[in-house]
Amino acid sequence: MPSASFHFPKGFLWGTATAAHQVEGNNSNNQWWDWEQQEGRILQGHKSGLACDWWGGRWKEDLDRAAESGQNAHRLSVEWSRIQPAPDRWDEDALERYRLMLRGLRERGLTAMVTLHHFTNPLWFEEMGGWENDESPVFFEKFVRKTVEALKEYCTLWVTFNEPNGYAGLSYAVGVWPPGKKDFNASFHVTTNMVRAHAAAYRAIHTIQLEARVGIALYYRELACAHPTSPLDRWATRNLHHTLNAIWPRALKYGVLEFPLKRVRVPEAAQTQDYFGFNYYSRYQVAFDLRKAGEMFARQFFPPEADLSGTGFLANEPDGMFSGLKWALQFNVPILVTENGVEDAEDKMRPRYIAQHIHQMWRAVNFNWPVKSYFHWSLVDNFEWERGWTQRFGLWELDLDTQARRKRPSANLYAEICKENGLTSEMVTNYCPEVYDKLFPG
Ligand code: BGC
Repeated sequence: MPSASFHFPKGFLWGTATAAHQVEGNNSNNQWWDWEQQEGRILQGHKSGLACDWWGGRWKEDLDRAAESGQNAHRLSVEWSRIQPAPDRWDEDALERYRLMLRGLRERGLTAMVTLHHFTNPLWFEEMGGWENDESPVFFEKFVRKTVEALKEYCTLWVTFNEPNGYAGLSYAVGVWPPGKKDFNASFHVTTNMVRAHAAAYRAIHTIQLEARVGIALYYRELACAHPTSPLDRWATRNLHHTLNAIWPRALKYGVLEFPLKRVRVPEAAQTQDYFGFNYYSRYQVAFDLRKAGEMFARQFFPPEADLSGTGFLANEPDGMFSGLKWALQFNVPILVTENGVEDAEDKMRPRYIAQHIHQMWRAVNFNWPVKSYFHWSLVDNFEWERGWTQRFGLWELDLDTQARRKRPSANLYAEICKENGLTSEMVTNYCPEVYDKLFPG
């Protein structure tokens, strides 16, 4: 077989992404912990518990794994409720612990990307109405100032919000995340406050650190119209695409929130993204469905021939990543792939999922699109929100009872990719020969 390779530009960032609540353990002072204690909220009654015990120090061994396997970057998040356990109290020890972690990244040659909000709010903040409270941007800005001041020595790449579009939808419209509301108006109100908070944080970070690069990590969902000849399906697809994918980046470019039935001006948010943070997992078909009023009349599904993941949660749709990157170009900023991955305890699909998505990213780079990083979700199995521990996204498997880690074959594949700064035909032959012809046709 001929040897061929897909190489990436020098300086490309290869890493994994994690989030505080999902890996640290004992994050008992936020709204998610509270939610996990309530019956029926999390699949099989799972709890985050000790998680991957990063707070107990196991971040060291996991970051060793990341560095030894050729990664040169890592994206992690800080936990607001640890840093500010009460409105009038800062925990300097917690900040010191994060400084230690970030120093740990540096010592291992890993460029840091820090997420300031990854779905969790301090309990005190949630009790004051969370993001529905119009004072929320003020609280967030204070937290961001304090945190960035403390960590600026080790990081210049900041994510204000992880997937604020997903968060507002799942917490306030669909209602499967705390506080469990099913109210579109509430989700639009929350979105407005979060955009304001982002704008305030963006400016605060830039006054503290001139060289900072600030953005969000958008949950991008590729949506394909199920029946392109049906005007209703086309309407549902367009509408959902706009509401889910486009509202946030357009607000951060133009300073206007274009909700389905109203526009809200947020002038201070214009031009507040230095990069486009792109989280991509899958592509969904969309059909109009009157019964789906709570989901904007859009029924979403995978086609019957789809290559489905371990629990059927995702389909392997790498082309959707290419289309999404193409769409993101319009915002005229560098694109950072901030998450991509699949739940697959057996590691049957993950090798081809990784290879095929990186191939699509390579195609994008070859058109000279400014794609600068890839962060795989995730380094080690971690607590998957309302799906608990039923889904396993790690390159390393976690045994929750013993905290032992076991390497999955994908970790070796990803290590080879990072070390090569590219994907070769040998890697595909060795790890996922079933897609060889797709990646190297003819
Ligand atoms: C989130 C992660 C989550 C992952 C897999 C992403 O949307 O940012 O926190 O673990 O999806 O479910």
